[in-house]
Amino acid sequence: MNLRSTATAIGRRAWHVLAALAVTLMTGCGNMMGDVDGNWQMPIQASKEAADIDWVYYFIFWICLFYFVHIMGAMGWFMWRYRRIPGKEVEESPHHSLSLEIAWSIPPILLCVVMFYLGFDYYMQMSIPPADAIKIEVQAEKWSWKFRYHNGAESDELHIPKDKPVVFLLTSRDVLHAFYLPKMRVKKDIVPGRTTKAWTTANRAGDYTLFCAEYCGRSHSMMRAPVTVHETEAGWLAAIRPGRASPEKLFRMNCSSCHSIDTPEILTGPSLKGIGMSKRQVAAGGGAPTKEVLADRAYLKESILRPGALLSRMGKDFKDEMNKTFAKQLKPEQIESLVDYLLDPKKAMEKFEAELKKAEKK
Ligand code: CUA
Repeated sequence: MNLRSTATAIGRRAWHVLAALAVTLMTGCGNMMGDVDGNWQMPIQASKEAADIDWVYYFIFWICLFYFVHIMGAMGWFMWRYRRIPGKEVEESPHHSLSLEIAWSIPPILLCVVMFYLGFDYYMQMSIPPADAIKIEVQAEKWSWKFRYHNGAESDELHIPKDKPVVFLLTSRDVLHAFYLPKMRVKKDIVPGRTTKAWTTANRAGDYTLFCAEYCGRSHSMMRAPVTVHETEAGWLAAIRPGRASPEKLFRMNCSSCHSIDTPEILTGPSLKGIGMSKRQVAAGGGAPTKEVLADRAYLKESILRPGALLSRMGKDFKDEMNKTFAKQLKPEQIESLVDYLLDPKKAMEKFEAELKKAEKK
C-alpha cells in the first residue's frame, strides 16, 4: 500500500467517524428512559395519543436531519473546493441569482408552516381534555406527589384505568414543578397559585413512573411517584378505595423527604433510624446548651406537633426547618400511628395489619 492510498483510507475512516459522531449527537437523547422496547429515540407508547406525538416528532426530526446534513455537507465542500491555493488568482464571486434564492427560501418556509401547523394542532389537542375525562387532583410539593380522586381517596401513588381519558388538575404547594409521564408523552408545568391541566388516555396496563421535570431543589431528581394503569375500571376503583393509610405509608408521605428511617444517613433532618426510646442530644430552639432526652412517646409526639421547640444535635446541629403544619394537616390517629412507627416500625406495622384484619371481619 503506498502513501497516497493509506492517506485516502485514513481520510475515509475519519469521514465515517465524523458522520457517526454527527448522527450520535443529533440522536444523543435516544432512549433517554433506558427503555429497550421503545421506538428508537422514544420509550414505549403507553397512551392513545403517543403515536401521533411521535409521528410529529420524527417528521420534524427527519426534516432537520436532512437540512443539517446537506447544509453542513455543502459548507464543507465549498470550503474545500474554493480553498486558497498559492499562485491561483482570486476569482470574482457571482452576486445574484433569483431562481437560487427562491429555491432556498420558499420550500423551507412552506416546510416551516407545515411543521408549525402540525405542532400547533397536536398542542391544542393535548391542551383540551375531553369533557367526560376522569378528574384526578395532583398536588406537587418539595419533593413528593399527592393524588386525590373523585371519591375523596388520597394516595401518594397514581392509579388510572386503561382506555379512559384522565385529566390531571395540577397544583403546587411551593415552587415550580412539572408533571412528566414520558411513556404517555405527557409533560406539563405546575405553577404555584394556578391550576394547570394535562390529560392522557393510557392504553397499556402496567407499572410506570411519574417524574418531576422542573428543577425544584435538592431532591428534584428523587421526586417521583409510582403509576399503575389498571386493566379494568373495577380494578382501578378497588385500588383507590378510601382507607386508612399504613404507618409506613404515612411516614413515606409526610416525613421521608427529610428523614431516613432505614439508614443513619442525614438528609435535611436527622436520621430517625432506631429513634424509639433512644437517648437524643437536643438543644432548645435559640441555641441553648445541648441536653440529653429520652425519645419516648411524649417526646416524639411533641416533636411532630411543635417542631423547632427542641432541635436535634445528632450528627449535626440542625436548624429549625421542619414543617409546622402537621398538627393541622394530620388527624390525631394519624399522629399516634406515626409515633407508633417511630417507636418501633416493625411492631407498628404488625399492629396496623392486625387492626386491618379485624376491620375486614366485621
Ligand atoms: Cu419537583 Cu423537580
